[in-house]
Amino acid sequence: MAQSVAILGTQWGDEGKGKIVDLLSEKVNAVVRFQGGHNAGHTLIIDGKKTVLHLIPSGILQPGVECMIGNGVVLSPSALKAEVDALEAKGVDVFSRLKISSSCPIIMGYHELIDSAREKARGKEAIGTTGRGIGPAYEDKVSRRGIRFADLLNAKRLEKKLDQILDYHNFVLEHYYQVEPLNPGMVLDDALQLGACFADMMIDVSGRLHQLRDAGKNILFEGAQGSWLDIDHGTYPYVTSSNTTVGGVCTGSGVGIDAVDYVLGITKAYTTRVGSGPFPTELFDDVGVRLADRGHEVGATTGRARRCGWLDAVATARMVKVNGMTGLCVTKLDVLDGFKELKICTAYRLNGEIIKHIPLDAEDWDQVEPIYEVFPGWQENTRGITELEKLPNNARAYLQAMEDFCGAPIHMISTGPERSENIIIQFPFG
Ligand code: GDP
Ligand code: IMO
Ligand code: MG
Repeated sequence: MAQSVAILGTQWGDEGKGKIVDLLSEKVNAVVRFQGGHNAGHTLIIDGKKTVLHLIPSGILQPGVECMIGNGVVLSPSALKAEVDALEAKGVDVFSRLKISSSCPIIMGYHELIDSAREKARGKEAIGTTGRGIGPAYEDKVSRRGIRFADLLNAKRLEKKLDQILDYHNFVLEHYYQVEPLNPGMVLDDALQLGACFADMMIDVSGRLHQLRDAGKNILFEGAQGSWLDIDHGTYPYVTSSNTTVGGVCTGSGVGIDAVDYVLGITKAYTTRVGSGPFPTELFDDVGVRLADRGHEVGATTGRARRCGWLDAVATARMVKVNGMTGLCVTKLDVLDGFKELKICTAYRLNGEIIKHIPLDAEDWDQVEPIYEVFPGWQENTRGITELEKLPNNARAYLQAMEDFCGAPIHMISTGPERSENIIIQFPFG
C-alpha cells in the first residue's frame, strides 16, 4: 500500500529531522519540502561525511529519489544556487532530480535587508531570526505583492512587478530604516540571471504529487523548523513565519489531508532552542553546558549556540495533538549517557497554580515555571545501539516516561548522528 509520511519537529527545531528524512528516503519515490526556506539547517552524516542542507530536501543523498520544493517554501535563488553547486561539485546529481513549484514565493535581497534592519530596530526584543529574509518574504506573499518563481522566467512581467515592489520597499528601507535603497535595474538583472539557472526545474509540484499518489508511490513530506516555531501555534511572536505544523503539508504542497497517512514527530530526548523566546525548561547551570557539549548544540545555519534544557513533555504533548502524530522518533538519546539523574517537565506553575496544559495567553509563557519528574540516569554508552533490548534499563524507563507523558508511541530511536545509528521499533512504511 502506498504510504505518505510527514516528518515534523515537535519542539523548537533542530530535533534531527534531516537525519531521519534521509534514512526513510530509501523507501520513497519523492521527498517534498513544504514550508520555511534556507533558515533550516538539516544535517546528514553518512559514513562519517557531513552534509548540511538548507533548502534542498534531505532525500537528495539517496540516489533516484525525486526531490521537490513545494509552493509553501520561500525560495532564495542565490542560496539555492550555492547549495546546488556545492552538491554537484561533490558528485551529487541535483539538476535532474530537483523540481521546484512555479508558485514558490521568492526571497529577494531586499527581504534580507528588511529582516536585519527590523531585528536591529527591535533591540532587546529581537526575535533572533536567522537573517535570511524569511519573515519579510512571507509578508510579501500574504500581502499579494510577492514575486513567484514563474515570474523570474518572464522578464517583462518581472520588471513591472519589481518596479512596484521596490517603489514600496525602497521607501521603507530609506526613510524608515535609514538603509541604502536598491537599484531596480540591478535587482532585475540578478533575478533574471538566477531564475534562468533553474528554469528546467520548474514544475507543478501539486500535480506531480497527485500523479505519484495515483500511481501508488510513497512520498515523504519534510518539515523544517519545529512545531513551537509555528506562526499560529507556536510561542508567538518568537516564531518563524510559516505553518510548521501538519496543516502546512497540505497548503504548502497542494495535496489533500488524505495524502498524509502517517505523521512522525521528531523529538530530541531533551530540548534546545536557537534565538529568543520562552523556554520554560532552559538550564543555565553546568547540566545545560553538558547537554550543549555532548550534543554539539551549535546552529547548523547561523553557527549560534543553542540554548539547552530538559525535555518539556507538556509542550511536546500539545504538539503531538496539534499534529495528530502517529508515532515519535526520539533523537540524541546517546547525549544523555552518563548523567546522574534526568528530568522531564510534566506540569507548570503559573501564577501560583499548577497546570498541566500550556498557558492560554502566549504572553504568559515567560511566567511559566517547570515542575519536574526525576529519573535515574545511566552510565553505559548507548551510542550506535540498534536493538531496544541492548539499551540500559534506566534508558528504557526514561523512554517509557517520554512516551507516557508526551502521549504518542515511540516508533524509532536515534542513538547517534550516523544514518545507521537507530533503533527501529515500528517502521513507518510497514
Ligand atoms: P534538523 O534541523 O532537525 O535536521 O536537525 P539539525 O541537523 O539542525 O541538528 C541535529 C544535530 O544532531 C545534527 O548535528 C545531527 O548530526 C545530530 N544528530 C541527529 N541525531 C542524533 C543522535 O541520535 N545522536 C547524536 N549524538 N547526534 C544526532
Ligand atoms: P531547522 O529546520 C531552529 C528560529 C530562529 C528564530 C526564529 C525565527 O534546522 O530545525 P526566521 O529566520 O525563521 O524568521 O527566525 O526561528 N529558527 C530555527 N530554529 N531550527 C530551525 O530550522 C530554525 N529556523 C528558524 O532561530 O528564533
Ligand atoms: Mg537544524
